[in-house]
Amino acid sequence: MTLSGSQRPDTAAGVDSVVVRGVEKIFDTASGRMTALTEVSLTVGAGEFVSLLGPSGCGKSTLLRLIADLDEPTAGTIEVFGKTARQARLDQDYGIAFQQAGLLPWRTVTANVELPLELHGTGSAARKARARELLDLVGLSEFGDRYPDQLSGGMQQRAAIARALAERPSLLLMDEPFGALDEMTREYMQTELVRICAETRAAVVFVTHSIPEAVFLSDRVVVMSPRPGRVEAVVPMHLGATADRADDLREDAAFFEMVTAVREALHTGSQAGRRPGSRTP
Ligand SMILES: Nc1ncnc2c1ncn2[C@@H]1O[C@H](COP(=O)(O)OP(=O)(O)OP(=O)(O)O)[C@@H](O)[C@H]1O
Ligand SMILES: [Mg+2]
Repeated sequence: MTLSGSQRPDTAAGVDSVVVRGVEKIFDTASGRMTALTEVSLTVGAGEFVSLLGPSGCGKSTLLRLIADLDEPTAGTIEVFGKTARQARLDQDYGIAFQQAGLLPWRTVTANVELPLELHGTGSAARKARARELLDLVGLSEFGDRYPDQLSGGMQQRAAIARALAERPSLLLMDEPFGALDEMTREYMQTELVRICAETRAAVVFVTHSIPEAVFLSDRVVVMSPRPGRVEAVVPMHLGATADRADDLREDAAFFEMVTAVREALHTGSQAGRRPGSRTP
């Protein structure tokens, strides 16, 4: 199963997907100014899978929203494929998937997947062909005529991923897309996502709270610490190509080593009186 004729544009090859330089984000709130992010710098290469991991409130969603141009940094710069974040948004260079699938309940699965194409003027026949291709990719070929509330949570997330891929983005921005799923479905979705990324060769910035999830999916894990949010460590995953990762990796010694490395980086960052040795397997 491949996305025939749907390779991303050659112009994107070799260009970093995301370059964040010295970003600071200050929110003005009723109780004063709040620094959500400070001195955040980060590069995501072409086709690279990078996870943002850190405790609640450390600024993961804020950083993702800045990359998506849903908000603006107070200081610093963000480039997406060498353009400003604003231009990349206008050019629809990325797809977005959030914690809730966010499908429109009154549209069928096919119509939901077609929505971004419809909004940007793609003709009906091309939309239908693309939706078929995408539903096949995410294993929902049989469910195109269903409505979202007739699908399980995992199936809804897969439909949302199909929709995010509709315009062949070279970059996916995902904020805890599997957060609401049970552990088994979640692992299944992680394996699916690895496969989908291998086929589409999209880069991904993936927000999660889960250490094993970040380890399984990522080329590198960015560990963030709170108040104010900053990059505490960037941990490369020495687990081979993400495209080759399958379920058995979860029981591999190398996987546990990486989980430990990320956990230690996270604990160093958060401190907060936690005792790293307090949980023995
Ligand atoms: N629009 C806003 N106005 C004011 N403060 C905000 C706004 N958005 C986020 N914040 C604050 O910025 C900080 C970082 O929030 P953010 O949502 O990025 O955290 P997070 O790492 O995604 O947390 P979680 O894991 O709980 O989703 C928090 O203290 C939050 O209260
Ligand atoms: Mg968040």
